Amino acid sequence: MARYHAGRLALERGVPEEARDRIALVVSELCTNALRYAHALGWPEPRCALTVGVNRWLTEVWDPFPWQDLRAAVAHDKAGDEEESGRGLALVAHLTDNAWGVRPSTRGGKVVWAVVRW
Ligand SMILES: Nc1ncnc2c1ncn2[C@@H]1O[C@H](COP(=O)(O)OP(=O)(O)OP(=O)(O)O)[C@@H](O)[C@H]1O
Ligand SMILES: [Mg+2]
Repeated sequence: MARYHAGRLALERGVPEEARDRIALVVSELCTNALRYAHALGWPEPRCALTVGVNRWLTEVWDPFPWQDLRAAVAHDKAGDEEESGRGLALVAHLTDNAWGVRPSTRGGKVVWAVVRW
């Protein structure tokens, strides 16, 4: 769903196709993670915010689970390599030239963000 909206918005705003493809992947990886690891019955739904700037696109996905240093987790996992899963955030890092991160949210939980440039 978020991926569909992102695709439409990107098209409307004249984002070039190459960047639209990267944006679709980033949005889908971050939203999938929020739903898979930070969503449970009775907890608030994860939220996705999309901001289009000049030659850049900011994706922010909020979820209610406490802040975790996902960047450190990904760097650490690199040692293991070649696994079937655990590639999503490494892909996000690649598609954004490493412009991504996690921050604690003022309303609790955390925001995973990523910036695609073109
Ligand atoms: N929003 C989140 N909240 C809590 N933990 C998370 C969140 N997103 C990712 N993680 C943790 O970081 C790990 C790495 O995430 P990543 O997306 O790279 O791999 P994956 O989801 O396990 O596999 P893949 O994305 O390849 O299907 C996850 O296994 C999970 O433990
Ligand atoms: Mg993932």
